[in-house]
Amino acid sequence: MALPSGTRHNGEPFTALGGLRRATLMPVASAITVRRSRSAEWPSLRELRLRALESDPLAFGSTLAEEKAFDDERWRHRALEGSESPTLSQWVADAGPGGLVGSVTIAEVEGRLHVFGMWVEPRYRGQEIGARLLDAGLRWARSTFPGRPVHLDVNPRQVRAVRLYESRGFRRAAPDRPLGHTPGETRYEMVLPG
Ligand SMILES: CC(C)(COP(=O)(O)OP(=O)(O)OC[C@H]1O[C@@H](n2cnc3c(N)ncnc32)[C@H](O)[C@@H]1OP(=O)(O)O)[C@@H](O)C(=O)NCCC(=O)NCCS
Repeated sequence: MALPSGTRHNGEPFTALGGLRRATLMPVASAITVRRSRSAEWPSLRELRLRALESDPLAFGSTLAEEKAFDDERWRHRALEGSESPTLSQWVADAGPGGLVGSVTIAEVEGRLHVFGMWVEPRYRGQEIGARLLDAGLRWARSTFPGRPVHLDVNPRQVRAVRLYESRGFRRAAPDRPLGHTPGETRYEMVLPG
């Protein structure tokens, strides 16, 4: 059977199969599982984190150069903590054969609960994967540390992140401070009341 075909307004030829392929290859958020990270997947967690630092350097307090220098032991330890620690949990968006496409970590640090490392791969954004990750982390925080406020730092340029945090009840709690690794860039603290 001949497939419908023709020419696009820009002159590119198309067939219905081409359209089907494109539709099939589009990332679909419903096929993504949000779950706690696993210790054994430390190489994937390392790769995800390095991709995040490379793609959105102004979103994080750390840098690609800094973390590229970590040895395997450090990545193994980070993954073990994220999967098993009673005071730190890492959550990932798992696209199955597509690998890990997002992550967030929530930890108790010096007596305060803190959100770190929120990131979703750019082509998967806008499908509430960030919201699902944050909600999973916040559920863990609420059940592990009931009644405690949750803190985070955000660069005001990360408008989507700020909107996401505000939608979950985080409010700006402090004036801008230097981001640290990039002169002229800032971050500020947001807090979700307990
Ligand atoms: C912040 C981030 C994790 C959100 O991930 P996501 O999967 O796109 O999140 P969601 O789909 O749940 O959307 C979150 C908010 O961003 C908005 N948004 C998402 N995609 C958007 C797009 N393409 N254009 C405009 N707004 C968009 C959503 O509308 C939503 O806001 P709303 O609830 O007011 O509608 C992602 O944008 C990211 O990784 N950014 C770079 C890293 C970063 O800023 N991390 C935060 C460090 S503090």
